[in-house]
Amino acid sequence: MAYLKLVLVVSITELVRADPSLKFPPGFKFGTATSAYQIEGAWNVSDKGESVWDRFTHARSDVIHNGHTGDVACDSYHQWKKDVQIAAELGLHHYRFSISWTRLLPSGISNYVSEDGNKYYSDLIDGLLEKGIEPMVTIFHWDLPQRLQDLGGWTNPLISDWFADYARIVYSLYADRVKFWITINEPLIFCDFAYNSGKMAPGTIDPYVATYLCSKHVLLAHAKAWRIYDEEFKLRFHGKVSIANQLIWYEEISPADKETVEFLNQLSTGIYSHPIYSEKGGWPPGIEEIIAEKSKKEGYPRSRLPAFSNEEINLIRGTYDFYALNYYTSRVVRPLKDGEIAGPWPIFGSLEFGIATDTLPEWGKSQIDVFVTFPAGLRHMMSWLKNNYGDIQIFITENGYPNREEKELHDIDRIQFIHDHLEQVLLSIHEDNIDVIGYTVWSLMDNLEWFEGYSVKFGLYKVDFEDPQRSRSPRKSAEYYRKVIVNHALVPVKYLYDEL
Ligand SMILES: *[C@@H]1O[C@H](CO)[C@@H](O)[C@H](O)[C@H]1NC(C)=O
Repeated sequence: MAYLKLVLVVSITELVRADPSLKFPPGFKFGTATSAYQIEGAWNVSDKGESVWDRFTHARSDVIHNGHTGDVACDSYHQWKKDVQIAAELGLHHYRFSISWTRLLPSGISNYVSEDGNKYYSDLIDGLLEKGIEPMVTIFHWDLPQRLQDLGGWTNPLISDWFADYARIVYSLYADRVKFWITINEPLIFCDFAYNSGKMAPGTIDPYVATYLCSKHVLLAHAKAWRIYDEEFKLRFHGKVSIANQLIWYEEISPADKETVEFLNQLSTGIYSHPIYSEKGGWPPGIEEIIAEKSKKEGYPRSRLPAFSNEEINLIRGTYDFYALNYYTSRVVRPLKDGEIAGPWPIFGSLEFGIATDTLPEWGKSQIDVFVTFPAGLRHMMSWLKNNYGDIQIFITENGYPNREEKELHDIDRIQFIHDHLEQVLLSIHEDNIDVIGYTVWSLMDNLEWFEGYSVKFGLYKVDFEDPQRSRSPRKSAEYYRKVIVNHALVPVKYLYDEL
């Protein structure tokens, strides 16, 4: 054992010098992420308007764990200085947060900007920059103004202009200080999962029509917002703008799966990527035809997946500066069993196409069933993106590990998760020549995990939700991530075990 000890006390610096493959490229950015509704609280202070998540948590305690709400959450509206403080403790290069649409524009429409809302985000951005942390701002992270929802929300085509107007205001207030922008976060969740499950605001279940209307309008909204930046702000401020997609990797386990797996990758990743990143633009190959055909058989006068006009295809195509990728989990496919109408996570395929998705027993478990871990899926996903869309820069804008009711701070499983995913990132960079430029842990701290309430913890920092001050305490994973950042290298986990 003395020998083992000796090996492990080699400093990380020496370790990395001996093995340069542990090193991240110069300029590679490490950060963490949060979103407004999940952390801010203060849902009704000043002139803030009601969002769909305010309405949903207040009205649908039957869906939400223990009737939890984001009314107070981490109280970041009042305690944002603590967030900046812990971000600085971690040594983050960037901190990704979102703007609450109704805090900035209480009525949802851009005729009036809240002075208090503006001041809150302006102060937060300044506070981060003072600590040398780059703000990465998500303009929309699911908390749509309730007023716009009452007008149909993402199923109303006018939403793309309402969103673009809102985005222009956000840029005009903060583009002098913010260089990384995410227009919209994870349409796969707020279009597909939401309208398939009813577990997310607005709570409507309408998988066959609303889902596809939402998908189309999201792409138009993103494209308009990207072009506004490109035409009105880019020359002065030189920032980068993209949409963030949650990508679920479908892994082929037998040659018989090949077609179905590719179909699902096109359906879930391609649907929000092909229109933007492919040379041709428009819906991904194979998808448009099959939904049009089904719709016709079902007696619809036109496809449930609304077509793009040539003008819309050109509007959307090329509206990116990098690929913003959120990755948590992977799936394999299997046929539905007798009597089964949907697989365990009916985002895609199972309801509409009779395909069940599943996981493999050898993949890593977490305490949340859907978040089965398969780190190699991240690498496979990035290669798939490169094969489909060419050499685009990839910024990993979310990756993280959940636990349920995690009271203690000794989160070795989260450290292993981060290590194993960063290892795949390095393989992508070094072996597959993929230009990955950053990595972002979800999340800086525990927060309201949507319909799971506060029962699911993703934080590098624990938040004490019983404490009116909402104190933040570092878990061991925070210490690990700090070491990764300061060494700019993949710190072996056993190295940390020795110190713990
Ligand atoms: C704001 O909401 C809280 C519940 O979260 C309620 O107790 C309080 O009265 C509300 N304040 C105003 C000004 O409506």
